[in-house]
Order: sequence, then structure tokens, then C-alpha cells
Amino acid sequence: MSQSKIRLVITMATVSWIVVVIALTFFARMVIHRFGPLPEQPIQFSHTVHVNNLNLECSYCHPYAEISTVATIPTGELCLECHEGAGIDHPEVEKMLAILEEQGEIQWDRVYQVKDHVYFSHRVHTVIGQIKCQECHGPVQNMTVAIRSAGGSSDRGFLEMGWCVSCHKRRGAPRECITCHK
Ligand code: HEC
Ligand code: HEC
Ligand code: HEC
Ligand code: HEC
Ligand code: HEC
Repeated sequence: MSQSKIRLVITMATVSWIVVVIALTFFARMVIHRFGPLPEQPIQFSHTVHVNNLNLECSYCHPYAEISTVATIPTGELCLECHEGAGIDHPEVEKMLAILEEQGEIQWDRVYQVKDHVYFSHRVHTVIGQIKCQECHGPVQNMTVAIRSAGGSSDRGFLEMGWCVSCHKRRGAPRECITCHK
């Protein structure tokens, strides 16, 4: 090979390496922005175990999602209805019982949360709008850790205005500023 050919090969290799690195960085950023960093929960609570395996309805643990603005996360008291007996030799259940004993409650890391200046109501969407939980929260029943799976993809994080407004446009729901900013 002549010197110029070698130089050409090196240049091509360098260029394709840079392209690969840029593409991977871009892809990683996209994934992080879409799904957000994984929440760090004090114990591994699996929706799959409770919803798919045990056939519990979402409303068993999140009843307020159909009657109130907030869905709320169940208190330890509800968990204890079963876990004074069930799974007591499972390490994560042991951890849960210890936390409840020491702190009285489990401090869950929030996965979805809108800013204070935004008004959101679960009941309006789940009951009046007849929108399934999964349309906004993804297939939670298959998740071993609840992650953000919808809500937009901007740099500032999730649940940004465009996500709300574009669905409101599709469904003919109100789009006046006062709807969401009281
Ligand atoms: C046995 C009780 C239980 C059942 C049944 C259950 N959940 Fe949960 N859910 C929890 C607990 C505990 C958390 C907090 C831990 C976490 O975020 O993973 C949670 C968290 C969530 C979150 C994230 C909340 C946040 O932090 O913003 C969503 C969304 C959610 N559940 C939706 C659902 C849906 C949809 C169903 C039905 C398919 C369901 N859940 C069924 C107990 C339950
Ligand atoms: C209706 C009964 C019931 C309720 C309510 C319930 N669980 Fe469970 N949970 C179970 C059963 C049954 C298992 C499976 C136990 C086993 O594998 O031996 C389980 C398993 C678990 C496990 C082990 C997960 C795994 O990977 O197997 C954890 C952790 C757990 N539950 C946490 C919770 C928390 C936190 C709550 C309250 C938000 C809760 N559970 C509410 C019945 C319940
Ligand atoms: C139209 C979209 C939408 C639908 C449908 C929806 N949610 Fe939510 N959910 C949200 C938003 C937005 C938040 C953040 C709310 C906040 O910060 O006040 C949220 C928050 C939550 C939380 C965290 C606790 C809380 O009260 O904020 C849980 C748990 C939850 N949703 C469960 C459910 C369940 C269960 C259903 C179905 C019965 C459901 N959601 C249907 C958009 C939705
Ligand atoms: C998947 C579609 C969807 C998404 C996403 C969605 N909405 Fe809605 N929203 C609706 C529909 C449909 C209605 C109208 C329900 C009805 O009255 O039939 C509605 C109604 C509302 C209302 C009540 C309006 C009124 O005055 O009657 C508020 C407030 C609201 N949405 C806020 C939000 C906010 C804030 C977000 C984002 C965090 C959001 N919505 C995301 C579909 C959606
Ligand atoms: C369907 C709900 C909805 C409607 C309608 C809506 N907004 Fe918003 N708005 C939001 C949400 C959700 C955020 C929070 C964005 C975030 O946290 O990234 C937001 C954020 C904002 C912000 C803060 C800047 C920012 O990007 O965080 C401003 C300013 C704003 N909206 C103005 C308006 C104006 C003006 C209108 C009317 C033309 C309007 N909004 C209509 C949901 C709505």
C-alpha cells in the first residue's frame, strides 16, 4: 500500500469511529430523555408480581386515581394486609417489614410529578375521559420497576406541556391556558 492509501484508510477509520461515537451518544441521550433516570426505590416493588401474577386491579392499590385529582401511592398499611404472612422469607419483603417497623412508612421515589404551577386531575382523565392508565403510564403491569414511559422527551424532563396539549388537540379537550394553569 502506498503512503497516501494508508493515510486514507486511517482517516476513514477515524471518521467512522467518530460517527459511531456521536451516534451512540445521541441514542443514549434519547433513551435517557425518553424514560428518565431509573427511580431509586427503597425496596424493589414489582408491579408484575402483584398485577400479572396475583391479578390485583390497579384500583386495589390506587383507588384515588378514579375518584380524585391525585392517584396516590398506597401506604404500608395496605401492604401489611398481606405481608404479615405472604412472602415473609423474601429478602425484599423482609427489607420492607424492617423499614415499616423502623420508619412507619416507605419513602417511594416519585416517578411522575408535574410542576406546582400545573393543574392535573386523574378523575377527569380516567373516568370522564375514559383514558386507560397505560396510555399515560405505559404497560405498568409488566414492569418490575415503575419507569416513565410516556410524557414527552424534552431536555427539561417529562410531562412537558406539549405532551398534554397534543393529546388535548387529538381528543378535542380544552386547550385554554386556564385549563392547566389556575
Ligand atoms: C399491590 C399494590 C399495587 C398495585 C395492584 C398497583 N400498584 Fe402501582 N404502585 C404501587 C406502589 C407501592 C408504587 C410505588 C413504587 C414504584 O413507584 O414502583 C406504585 C407506583 C406506581 C406508579 C408510579 C407512581 C409515581 O411515583 O409517579 C404508577 C404510574 C403506577 N403505580 C400505576 C399502576 C397501574 C397502572 C396499575 C395497574 C396496572 C398499578 N399501578 C397497580 C402499588 C401498586
Ligand atoms: C393482596 C395481597 C398483597 C398485597 C396487598 C401486597 N402484596 Fe406484595 N406480594 C404478595 C404475594 C402473594 C407475593 C409473592 C410472595 C412470594 O413470592 O412468596 C408478594 C410479593 C412481594 C414482594 C417480593 C417481590 C418479588 O419479586 O417476588 C415485595 C417486595 C412486595 N410484595 C411488596 C409489597 C408492597 C410494598 C405492597 C404494598 C404497596 C404489597 N406488596 C402489597 C401479596 C400482596
Ligand atoms: C392523562 C394521563 C394519565 C392517566 C390516564 C393516568 N395518569 Fe397517573 N399520572 C399522570 C400524571 C400527569 C401524573 C403526575 C401528577 C402530579 O404530579 O400531580 C400521574 C401520577 C400518578 C401516580 C403518582 C401518585 C400521584 O397521585 O400523583 C400514580 C400512582 C398514578 N399516576 C397512577 C395512575 C393509575 C392507576 C391510573 C389509571 C387508573 C392513571 N394513573 C391514569 C397522568 C395520567
Ligand atoms: C392521552 C390524552 C391526554 C393527555 C396525555 C392529557 N390529557 Fe388532559 N384531558 C384529556 C381529555 C380527553 C380530557 C377531556 C375529558 C372530558 O371532559 O371528556 C382532558 C381534560 C383535562 C382537564 C379538564 C379540562 C376541563 O376543564 O374540563 C385538565 C385540567 C387536563 N386535562 C389537564 C391535563 C394536563 C395538565 C396534562 C399533562 C400533564 C394532560 N391533561 C394530559 C386527554 C389527555
Ligand atoms: C393541557 C394542559 C396545558 C395547557 C392547555 C397549557 N399548558 Fe402551559 N404547561 C403545561 C405543563 C404540563 C407545563 C409544565 C412543563 C414542564 O414542566 O416542562 C406547562 C408549562 C408552561 C409554562 C412554563 C414554562 C415551561 O415551559 O415550563 C408556561 C409559561 C406556560 N405553560 C404557558 C402556557 C400558556 C400561555 C398556555 C395557553 C396558550 C398554556 N400554557 C396552556 C400544561 C398546559
